[in-house]
Amino acid sequence: MDSYDEHDEQHKTLHMTVLATPDMANFSGHVHGGVLLRLLDQVAYACASRYAHAYAVTMSVDQVVFREPVNVGELLMFDACVNYTGRTSMEVGCRVIAETVIRGSSRHVMTCYFSMVAVDDDRKPVEVPPVQIRNETEQRRYDAAVLRRDFRKEIERRALEIRQNPTHAG
Ligand SMILES: CC(C)(COP(=O)(O)OP(=O)(O)OC[C@H]1O[C@@H](n2cnc3c(N)ncnc32)[C@H](O)[C@@H]1OP(=O)(O)O)[C@@H](O)C(=O)NCCC(=O)NCCS
Repeated sequence: MDSYDEHDEQHKTLHMTVLATPDMANFSGHVHGGVLLRLLDQVAYACASRYAHAYAVTMSVDQVVFREPVNVGELLMFDACVNYTGRTSMEVGCRVIAETVIRGSSRHVMTCYFSMVAVDDDRKPVEVPPVQIRNETEQRRYDAAVLRRDFRKEIERRALEIRQNPTHAG
């Protein structure tokens, strides 16, 4: 089940709702983390590719934290948005809400961020349309995405230092 925000002229948002069915369960009877990751990847792919009018591949995923288990029978609602665009890359923010169908109560399960790169038929990065900022919320998301982009680079730099010199990287 997919739907789109009709005021979103750039098609930068995407919503998807999926019912958590028994085939998604792990041994404890909750939804398997891998199933959630797969759904998140699908949402991020669809959001980024639709926005860029190009095939988009996942470069990295940040802040995947499973704070609470998701129960079989809950409705999983995914909200994705292109928060930021570089030249060929996009940050897609994905928010997941789980809703208890009968009671109608909902809770925030996870928010994570995908770095997606638009590519051509030879898998070479291609330019994406610059994201247009329409309101304060989008500006806040854009500014946060810029900070996360810098933070990502810093983590990569530190991770390399730790790999190269684990005893002295401090
Ligand atoms: C994505 C891919 C095409 C990029 O190729 P590349 O040669 O690294 O391309 P570039 O160096 O030109 O970088 C492309 C963009 O990615 C960004 N980028 C590079 N490393 C990044 C990282 N670790 N995190 C986020 N973005 C990153 C660059 O800043 C650049 O963005 P910009 O054009 O907006 O400035 C290539 O890495 C690839 O094919 N990766 C595999 C993707 C895949 O199969 N994903 C599925 C995973 S199972």
